[in-house]
Amino acid sequence: MKVDVLLGLQWGDEGKGKVVDVLTPRYNVVARFQGGPNAGHTLEFEGQHYVLRSIPSGIFQHNQVNVIGNGVVLDPVLFMEEATDLEKSGVDIKKILKISRKAHLIMPTHRVLDAANERLKGDGKIGTTGKGIGPTYTDKISRNGLRVGDIDNNFNEKYLTAKNRHLALLKALGESPDVSELEARWMQGIDFIKQFDIIDSEFYINKQLAAGKSVLCEGAQGSMLDVDFGSYPFVTSSSTVCAGACTGLGVAPSKVGEVFGIFKAYCTRVGSGPFPTELFDETGAEIRRIGHEYGAVTGRERRCGWIDLVALRYTIMLNGVTQLIMMKSDVLDGFETIKACDAYEVNGLVTRDFPYSIEEGITPVYTEIKGWNTPMSHLTSEDQFPQEFKDYIAFLEEKLGVPITIVSVGPDREQTIIRNMK
Ligand code: GDP
Ligand code: IMO
Ligand code: MG
Repeated sequence: MKVDVLLGLQWGDEGKGKVVDVLTPRYNVVARFQGGPNAGHTLEFEGQHYVLRSIPSGIFQHNQVNVIGNGVVLDPVLFMEEATDLEKSGVDIKKILKISRKAHLIMPTHRVLDAANERLKGDGKIGTTGKGIGPTYTDKISRNGLRVGDIDNNFNEKYLTAKNRHLALLKALGESPDVSELEARWMQGIDFIKQFDIIDSEFYINKQLAAGKSVLCEGAQGSMLDVDFGSYPFVTSSSTVCAGACTGLGVAPSKVGEVFGIFKAYCTRVGSGPFPTELFDETGAEIRRIGHEYGAVTGRERRCGWIDLVALRYTIMLNGVTQLIMMKSDVLDGFETIKACDAYEVNGLVTRDFPYSIEEGITPVYTEIKGWNTPMSHLTSEDQFPQEFKDYIAFLEEKLGVPITIVSVGPDREQTIIRNMK
């Protein structure tokens, strides 16, 4: 068996959580491979609304095992809160969730460092989620990190060494935070994690595959936030692209099967950084209002714009996407005309390839498409699609070169139309 990977092709919040939940019954294991509680993955079913941050979105379908992989960074306090809420809603989480020994721990001082780094950047700040993501991955790469597997291995000493190092860095920045309260709660979180099945997840996943079991890997953030290929430095600190599933779970590239690339029928971004198709006008505000485009984690307004096919072709290439999933099509139901950016004009030259920098001098070249002007949220199969929407799908498939196999017409699990999925 191979692992299938589902990941975001834009700047995050494409609807990954919803689709992972829908696809979970087809798999035996669902695993997160990168990111941490900077993610906010929303699921809606049976009138309930949940936002998951570190726990995979396969957690509600009962029989599947969910894994937090080695590539994830885990905040014990936020994890404890998230897991406790799920337990209250009847999920037997200790039975079905496993955590990698090699996942790195987000410490209270990582969050303080995140805030300090942002302050230092001034106007150039990234607009992070403030969850300590950057400093935790920095410690991982600089070989100073603390891992889940350290919890029962000289932990207090390792924690103190890491904390004192952070305090020295903060002192050099002129800060002497008192983290004692945060620390007490954090230690409760550490005790809470001890109750879970802590595993060597690379062996677990590979043994499952060898035994013929199927695995779905759930991405967080989006490919345009990838640390290598995203709009650097306005990115997150992990590999959000498909290759991240290999390093974040310990599966070989030859073990990757289908790659589901998920995108919105338009485009959004939270935080700072360039966004070529951003709309600053009434249309952008209308998309935000209809699409409820506010951050699931921070509540921040999401910046809205038209779909960017230049960026999508780039991320489809980087990820080797085999199937596309289009979300939030219903949000455009009332628009007379829809625009799609098929090329950029850069210093007078038109390009269809994604440039090194999109910070300045990019003018999107738009193709106008007739809107379908029909409500679609109640539709249940593709033969009910209005002709103009079918034309929009055909247009996107032609421009992107990959079939759209799932179309989402609302936030609920049921509002998902599976087309010709492999
Ligand atoms: P994720 O981070 O990729 O899992 O996405 P988020 O949960 O942050 O953001 C997606 C938002 O869109 C959530 O509020 C979902 O409930 C909502 N949503 C998902 N699919 C659809 C859809 O097809 N139509 C509409 N209107 N909302 C959707
Ligand atoms: P999901 O998984 C949208 C953005 C932040 C900021 C940048 C860096 O829900 O799609 P970080 O805290 O990671 O250091 O912030 O990345 N960002 C996201 N934007 N969705 C997310 O996750 C995001 N996670 C981080 O807004 O611009
Ligand atoms: Mg989100």
